[in-house]
Amino acid sequence: MDYKGVWEAMEDSQTLGLTKSIGLSNFSCKKIETILTFAIIPPSINQIEMHPLWQQKKLREFCKAKGIIVNAYSPLGALGRMWGSNQVLENEMLKQIAKAHGKTVAQVSLRWIVEQGATVVVRSLNKERMKQNMGIFDWELVDDDYKKINQIPQRRLIPSDFWVSPQGPFQTPEELWDD
Ligand SMILES: NC(=O)c1ccc[n+]([C@@H]2O[C@H](COP(=O)([O-])OP(=O)(O)OC[C@H]3O[C@@H](n4cnc5c(N)ncnc54)[C@H](OP(=O)(O)O)[C@@H]3O)[C@@H](O)[C@H]2O)c1
Repeated sequence: MDYKGVWEAMEDSQTLGLTKSIGLSNFSCKKIETILTFAIIPPSINQIEMHPLWQQKKLREFCKAKGIIVNAYSPLGALGRMWGSNQVLENEMLKQIAKAHGKTVAQVSLRWIVEQGATVVVRSLNKERMKQNMGIFDWELVDDDYKKINQIPQRRLIPSDFWVSPQGPFQTPEELWDD
């Protein structure tokens, strides 16, 4: 993978005005470090799997320190996709929090992401659920909610086998991610 060549071409795109900003997706701390060794224009954003079941604390702290915005994908667990799961929407802790606030589990997950200072991209083809997903800006989570969310066992939902191959640049999941 020619990171430098690809990044330089992306920088050219921005310099030529073909795009407003350039960023990354599924980049671990180590991979971002690599980009930063040669980037003239640093990445504006890193789009990663993030939700209360995979909170990405280390990567988020790293991105914050480098001034890179985090964008959370599959914030509801990607239900309906081949690799998707109902583990976020069916999480008992999140259900308790949702009930206490009179909100849905989806809203709790999205609100938690926004409160972490991340941006979020959620998918729905349903008009009512789209409206519901926008209804996260006039209320907030409280300390007790955070105590519960911090107890949720951490587990990546999106498998790594798409990107890992004995012939590819990442031969093990540990090489692809940081740990
Ligand atoms: N960079 C990457 O590698 C990467 C990887 C995965 C995804 N993404 C991006 O992330 C974005 C979203 O992630 P995603 O599509 O994987 O999954 P997601 O947003 O976590 O979940 C989408 C699923 O949740 C349902 N849903 C939406 N709102 C809901 C609500 N309020 N209550 C209950 N169910 C709800 C949707 O069904 P309905 O349509 O029926 O509402 C759909 O089945 C997409 O734009 C995608 O392209 C990027």
